[in-house]
Amino acid sequence: MKAVVVENLVKDFGNFRAIDCVSFEVEEGEVFGILGPNGAGKTTTIKILITLLKPTKGRAFVAGYDVLKSASDVRKNIGVVFQETTLELEFTARENLDFHARLYGMSKAEREKRIEEMLNLVELESFSDKLVKTFSGGMKRRLEIARGFLHNPKILFLDEPTLGLDAKTRRKIWKYIEELKGSSTIVLTTHYIEEAEKLCDRIVVMNKGKIVAMDSPKNLKAEDRVVIYSSKEDLDLIKKNFGSLIVSEDDGKVELLVKDVESFIPKLFEVAKVKEMSIKRSTLEDAYIKMVE
Ligand SMILES: Nc1ncnc2c1ncn2[C@@H]1O[C@H](COP(=O)(O)OP(=O)(O)OP(=O)(O)O)[C@@H](O)[C@H]1O
Ligand SMILES: [Mg+2]
Repeated sequence: MKAVVVENLVKDFGNFRAIDCVSFEVEEGEVFGILGPNGAGKTTTIKILITLLKPTKGRAFVAGYDVLKSASDVRKNIGVVFQETTLELEFTARENLDFHARLYGMSKAEREKRIEEMLNLVELESFSDKLVKTFSGGMKRRLEIARGFLHNPKILFLDEPTLGLDAKTRRKIWKYIEELKGSSTIVLTTHYIEEAEKLCDRIVVMNKGKIVAMDSPKNLKAEDRVVIYSSKEDLDLIKKNFGSLIVSEDDGKVELLVKDVESFIPKLFEVAKVKEMSIKRSTLEDAYIKMVE
């Protein structure tokens, strides 16, 4: 069964179309990223999937349940970390988690065990009885992630999980997400390209309510540019073997566009001698910026 199925989804706010015929599927166990500039429709998509907003047109299924017809079954199967904090600031960390666990009908023994586990995971054990209003932004985010996973949801939705966090805390959160990867399906939105590249098996890029690309981070990148300087004989051998990759040639050099430079280089050295070579790596950020221009 697919974890998430979205079919021709449309969301209008008055006469403004925020989501324009979006379709995608998320496999079980996958980490699926939604990338896109401000206002692209990421949060709106997530809100429809977690049953907080109704679509104008189209259908969506989460854990096999229709978000319109079976909203309560959808809710039982998901965890959510919202873009804005929804923690109870006057509660302690443990109280926040306990309240959430009760909402999900967890037994006392189960609650105590899971709360300890999750506090350990996000390294907040020693702050468990402090009021959340005394927490820093990073601590609140970590607690929200602990809460999102507390009831072992089949599918976790994270809307900008590391928004505004320093690089070190962000990396910690990536570590938790990677640790949790195997046990749940994760759908996350982010503005950090590096985050999407590191965590996601696949990425959908949205712009102005539409999907503009969907693939693995590796496939979304453009080709790397390789310039090779060599003797005429060797350049002839390169042209013979890799002709389709060549984009320009000049006296003593050729320029190629290569999708997978790691596997290209050994093949190159098998066929020709190289005097000098330069490689300009393409980045996911370059590809992304082109897509949303
Ligand atoms: N309740 C609403 N009423 C009217 N317009 C809305 C509402 N919610 C969202 N929108 C509009 O829909 C569009 C998509 O918003 P959404 O919050 O989904 O964007 P986003 O991709 O999550 O952006 P960000 O990166 O800034 O979080 C925006 O133009 C926004 O102004
Ligand atoms: Mg958003």
